[in-house]
Amino acid sequence: MKLGKFYIETYGCQMNEHDSEQMAAQLEELGYASTSDISSADVVLVNTCTIREKPEHKVYSFLGRLRKLKRRNPHMIIGVGGCVAQQHDSALLDRVPHLDFVIGTHQAGHLGELLETVRLKRTRLARTCFDTGVFSRRLLRARVHRAAAAARAYVTVMEGCDNFCSFCVVPYVRGRERSRPSREILQEVRRLTEAGVVEITLLGQNVNSYGRKDGDISFPQLLKRLGEVEGLARLRFTTSHPRDFSAEVIQAFADIPTLCGHVHLPLQSGSTRILRRMNRGYTRAEYLEKVKSLRQTRPGIAVTSDMIVGFPGETEKDFQETLSLMEKVRFDGLYSFQYSARPGTAASRMADDVPPEEKARRLKILQKLQDQHTLDGNRRMAGEVVEVLVEGPSRNSHREMTGRSRCNRVVNFPGKSELAGKLVSVRIEEGLKHSLRGTLISDISE
Ligand code: SAH
Ligand code: SF4
Ligand code: F3S
Repeated sequence: MKLGKFYIETYGCQMNEHDSEQMAAQLEELGYASTSDISSADVVLVNTCTIREKPEHKVYSFLGRLRKLKRRNPHMIIGVGGCVAQQHDSALLDRVPHLDFVIGTHQAGHLGELLETVRLKRTRLARTCFDTGVFSRRLLRARVHRAAAAARAYVTVMEGCDNFCSFCVVPYVRGRERSRPSREILQEVRRLTEAGVVEITLLGQNVNSYGRKDGDISFPQLLKRLGEVEGLARLRFTTSHPRDFSAEVIQAFADIPTLCGHVHLPLQSGSTRILRRMNRGYTRAEYLEKVKSLRQTRPGIAVTSDMIVGFPGETEKDFQETLSLMEKVRFDGLYSFQYSARPGTAASRMADDVPPEEKARRLKILQKLQDQHTLDGNRRMAGEVVEVLVEGPSRNSHREMTGRSRCNRVVNFPGKSELAGKLVSVRIEEGLKHSLRGTLISDISE
């Protein structure tokens, strides 16, 4: 029975992307069909992010646009999930009159029941309590189908965060750190690979601390077991915390060939003084040491990072230290942000004393430097033959396909759409600002 169509909008990080996949699978199992045309949807869901002020604003303007659609189609059910939902709870129902339900981050797995209650009882509700006990996730058939079609999937290994970096809202909206039993993770990965998935990305806010609290094995042990799963060609994980990025994790890059040559290792600042104020638990020197050791273990590995400019108390000297660290490391890619005070965090009680124009100036300088480093790194790839997992037609041209190399660079090349979901060899002709261009050599998966 077809109940109608659903549309999901996703903001924020991979956690939300994964939750959206999970939610879509539940809706499909209930009998809803997915649509990319929001105006024809019977159920509209938005998974939200509150990491900085800007993404939170985007959510409100998206919800604003829905008001008109709902006026035209009064039966439309609108739900908000993710981190804004968790933070504001039922206050969102008061703030947004055309909203039907609010579903918290730990409740994503219960979307089906919640939606049925809203639909059948024609009621508005908010459910945002945190789960306790064993952290377990069902693997739905519909999700296996979706993942198999794409040949890649996310698998959550841990959830929440206990680090309380002074700027960060995540511990408040995703709850305390919890690890999933390794048996369940292995089962999920096996089922996905049996269905045709070749790339798995392990997800968690701080994957390196997997198993420390309630898991049965450590993160490097988990990697080792996953490295032995038949059919799994590519293994990735995100996000790592530099403090917990241990010698054993680094060694895994020598021991496990399927582990892809890319690590995202968020630094946040190149100044040890600021890192201390951020409560990050490592120094500039320790970070540099880890990157060095990683590059010795797996030569050519791509290292990307996150950086914040204008944290409370950041002086010009601190900022220069961030730039000098970037010169030393030469990141392959960098996400950079202006500091944004988040309610409830420790840093929100410090004076936000770097003026907005100065934050913007620092960000611009930093991004210009990084653009040069990214371009240099991409250009250096010219002439190499890389393995690409093809995602689909590129955004710019329907005659071109796009995918990612093992080092996580975007690669575009002329090719047919039948290649989607396949592993191919591509010779890189040119390194550009945001991507690589190449020509197809062979289809590895045939
Ligand atoms: N778990 C990851 C990061 C999650 S948030 C880690 O441990 O690093 C993603 C990125 O958003 C962070 O790395 C940080 O660079 C940025 N960020 C988080 N809170 C922020 C804030 N209040 N202002 C600006 N940037 C922030
Ligand atoms: Fe936020 Fe820090 Fe946890 Fe990352 S490690 S999610 S930055 S508190
Ligand atoms: Fe945003 Fe929540 Fe992720 S606040 S960055 S969606 S964990």
